[in-house]
Amino acid sequence: MTKVYSNRCRAVAGTALAALLLLVGCSSELPPPGEMAQGQEAYLRWCASCHGNQGEGKPPTFPPLAGSEWLDLSDEALALIILYGLRGEIEVMGQIYRGYMPPMQHLRDQDIADIVLFMRNAWTDREAHLDAAAVAELRTVFPGRRPPLEGLEGLLEAVEFVESR
Ligand code: HEC
Repeated sequence: MTKVYSNRCRAVAGTALAALLLLVGCSSELPPPGEMAQGQEAYLRWCASCHGNQGEGKPPTFPPLAGSEWLDLSDEALALIILYGLRGEIEVMGQIYRGYMPPMQHLRDQDIADIVLFMRNAWTDREAHLDAAAVAELRTVFPGRRPPLEGLEGLLEAVEFVESR
């Protein structure tokens, strides 16, 4: 199966029902349909109001996730954004955003892991490896309340800190 074809399967996975995936024969390339569906459900519940049902964003206020170079960052980095939020000037697909994404520590570890898995499969050609235990670990990095991560630099500093522990 060529790369292009497998990417198309993944794009389909972003929108289609798990049962349908089995019929069109993409299932061998995807995580268990249950996890994917849970990730999509959690995404729609917690992220879509700002980033759009298809990850298309609402420029110039909310940046897209589909096609975003930020999805090239590690699973841990994406989980850190969800847990701690993001603010300050950032660039996504050639456009500058100066927004504020609130920290979302109220989400369950499993929901965050599922959302990262969903984003990876819907909008990248990489597999996610993050599980709930890893999210629980990241939750302890900055105990207590703190302001959202400050732009890409703030995020990379946080990632470095996590790796140095
Ligand atoms: C209340 C609106 C809001 C919600 C809800 C929200 N975000 Fe964001 N998100 C933003 C804003 C605004 C930015 C840009 C922040 C900035 O300009 O510094 C952002 C940036 C991002 C980025 C980095 C930039 C990009 O577009 O790739 C990622 C990744 C991201 N959000 C993922 C998520 C995920 C996953 C969820 C759900 C768990 C979520 N966001 C929920 C508003 C939101």
